[in-house]
Amino acid sequence: MGRSPGATVSVMTSTRYRLTQYAHGGGCACKIPPGELETIVQGLAGVDSPDVLVGLDTGDDAAVVRIQDGIAVVATADFFTPVVDDAYDWGRIAAANALSDVYAMGGRPVVAVNLVGWPRDVLPVELLREVLRGGLDIAREAGCVVGGGHSIDDPEPKYGMAVTGIADPDRLMRNDAAEPGLPISLTKPLGVGVLNNRHKATGEVFAQAVDCMVGLNREASEAALAAGVRAATDVTGFGLLGHLYKMARASGVTAVVDSASVPYVDGARQAVADGYVSGGTRRNLDWVRPHLSAGVDDDELILLADAQTSGGLLVVGEVPGARVIGRTVARRDAAIVVR
Ligand code: CO
Ligand code: CO
Repeated sequence: MGRSPGATVSVMTSTRYRLTQYAHGGGCACKIPPGELETIVQGLAGVDSPDVLVGLDTGDDAAVVRIQDGIAVVATADFFTPVVDDAYDWGRIAAANALSDVYAMGGRPVVAVNLVGWPRDVLPVELLREVLRGGLDIAREAGCVVGGGHSIDDPEPKYGMAVTGIADPDRLMRNDAAEPGLPISLTKPLGVGVLNNRHKATGEVFAQAVDCMVGLNREASEAALAAGVRAATDVTGFGLLGHLYKMARASGVTAVVDSASVPYVDGARQAVADGYVSGGTRRNLDWVRPHLSAGVDDDELILLADAQTSGGLLVVGEVPGARVIGRTVARRDAAIVVR
């Protein structure tokens, strides 16, 4: 072709390499299953101090520690294997997902560092550069500084960020603060998990799903704070049902989900019907089922349990622009009722 090898690589990278084929699992669906994780960390405790506002015990989105009157530090990390083939999009998705846990607590991200695993013998470093460029673009959009990070040679590509933010300690959105008698709101449609799984299997690209995943939860978080919301989390690998269960359990309420009002990305329902359901999603449903009273069939429950990557905020309260998908009520036998 008469080009230098470097130029050939940069022209070919976006088409020749399907990044999802280098991953054993996909995105937040490659999380360690929720029940297993809780067993692992059970009984492990860190520093016990009144300034630890959110620690390990309630399984919240991030750790929050008060550092002085009126200021708390919010710390979180998230990384995963490729969820899409395109390197730049994967970088954007992983960054938006990592930043999301700060927004889910009601915080503002301030500084992040990259976390990278890269099979340098197998994949060109130009592709890694695209991943990092995607991450930087999203961090810039969030007004969050990215300062270096850590990278290792790894047989499987992995990317994410450790993010540090700040929050007002008196205005945190916690997963254990849901009150009964409030609407439950969801700020992004569900279904990106099953579409990512289909993308991995077939190479079909789902632009609406990508748009959802690269979207920051900043506006949703600010709107929720402005509305006086006290309880929120983000919907990621454990799916809507998993994260809602964690919230209902930690708060001692029951969540009633009106399944007909839950929004989905185009094609999600068809992808479930066509069998592109991940093992992670099935494990989510298995985990929640003993705490669930369901008046809908299993296909509907699978959609509600779909392992999300960079999903929206799940808010107990009303948020302008977000879909109301149910209501909290005083605790009943089941932590979640789906009708
Ligand atoms: Co989270
Ligand atoms: Co997370």
